[in-house]
Amino acid sequence: MPAEPSVSPSRVGVWLIGARGSVATTAVAGCAAVTAGLHPPTGMVTETGVFHEAGLPALSSLVFGGHDVVDCPLPKRAESLAAGGVLPHDLPSAVTAELAAADREIRIGGPLRGDTRSEEELVDDLARDIRDFVRRSGLARAVVVNVASTEPVPEGDALPASSLYAAAALRAGCPYVNFTPSMGLHHPRLASAAASSGLPYAGRDGKTGQTLLRSVLGPMFAQRALAVRAWSGTNLLGGGDGAALADPAAAAAKNAGKERVLADTLGTVPEGETHIDDVPSLGDWKTAWDHIAFDGFLGTRMVLQTTWQGCDSSLAAPLILDLARLVARAHEVGLSGPVGELGFYFKDPVGEGPAALGEQYADLVALAGRLRQLAQPPGSVEPRAERGDPEDLPGEDR
Ligand SMILES: NC(=O)c1ccc[n+]([C@@H]2O[C@H](COP(=O)([O-])OP(=O)(O)OC[C@H]3O[C@@H](n4cnc5c(N)ncnc54)[C@H](O)[C@@H]3O)[C@@H](O)[C@H]2O)c1
Repeated sequence: MPAEPSVSPSRVGVWLIGARGSVATTAVAGCAAVTAGLHPPTGMVTETGVFHEAGLPALSSLVFGGHDVVDCPLPKRAESLAAGGVLPHDLPSAVTAELAAADREIRIGGPLRGDTRSEEELVDDLARDIRDFVRRSGLARAVVVNVASTEPVPEGDALPASSLYAAAALRAGCPYVNFTPSMGLHHPRLASAAASSGLPYAGRDGKTGQTLLRSVLGPMFAQRALAVRAWSGTNLLGGGDGAALADPAAAAAKNAGKERVLADTLGTVPEGETHIDDVPSLGDWKTAWDHIAFDGFLGTRMVLQTTWQGCDSSLAAPLILDLARLVARAHEVGLSGPVGELGFYFKDPVGEGPAALGEQYADLVALAGRLRQLAQPPGSVEPRAERGDPEDLPGEDR
């Protein structure tokens, strides 16, 4: 049997749930491209001066793996993203070695169609895959990041897939990030395990387009004492995300986050709805319209309309790299529980925190300062992922 690699204090794992999806593939390819100096780190907040000397792991130290339920090889997935214009056309061949390396670390997750494993067995299997990855790659730690398809809001007590993965992350002793609106660690049955895990976590649902804009415009109307009467939005989107959100139950989870930002920044819930339409031929490109009807002085009626045309995966991927680095560093310095200062990245942030982007950015800058100041605890090279205590995890199942 080959010898176990020694643990490197500088190698950090990024375990992606939904590892063969658009966002995950773009994050893996993008990390390799930036590391190789092929592209600048545009869109990565952690590469700005604010994070200078904050002790974040280097991009070159990130090692990727993950779970998915499909088996399309990552280099092939990257080629189809390049064909769709999401990745530069020559990038998949330039970073094929890195894509292949990540591909070798992807395991089939679950639950699979007709899966007969119990919740307990599934969590154990998923956690074992993560622990094996950490051990095999000699990692100091690994962050589990959920970028799998959005699932419908679950009914009943059973743990949905996203929560099984979140429980597995805790069981493997890994910090956790939920970039999707799925339940993940929010499930009430995981609350005590999350609280007692001593691990940092962040989520939910990355804020990359329409909601990002809302978290800037909402405070503007409130601060200028303009009365928003109605705020309506429509999104046209293709790709895997568009297909998943064609299910009204899945879209409901996403729209709740978009509307919450308005309620939190305006202080009231304005009239109007948000819709998501699946338009497969748009692929990864999203068009989002907002129509904001507001009153000015003496009740004068006015309207602001915005059009956002974005490529979803290229907006999301740099944030995945940011979050993995930030949560890895938070874990290294011993932070635990919800990292509220990461609300900047999310539609529905964990913990207490402001909803306006400007205030959220100030919190992020404060976190950077804290991370810079916190001395690395002695012996922090010990792989914490090896120390996950299965007895801590979902209590009622054990
Ligand atoms: N700008 C953005 O792209 C953005 C912003 C916020 C949130 N998100 C969320 O990120 C997620 C990923 O988006 P995407 O465009 O990459 O979607 P995608 O459809 O391309 O990829 C999702 C991947 O998840 C996999 N998957 C599905 N069920 C799984 C399971 N049980 N276990 C493991 N893997 C599973 C699929 O096979 C697929 O490979 C979505 O939930 C989306 O809502 C994206």
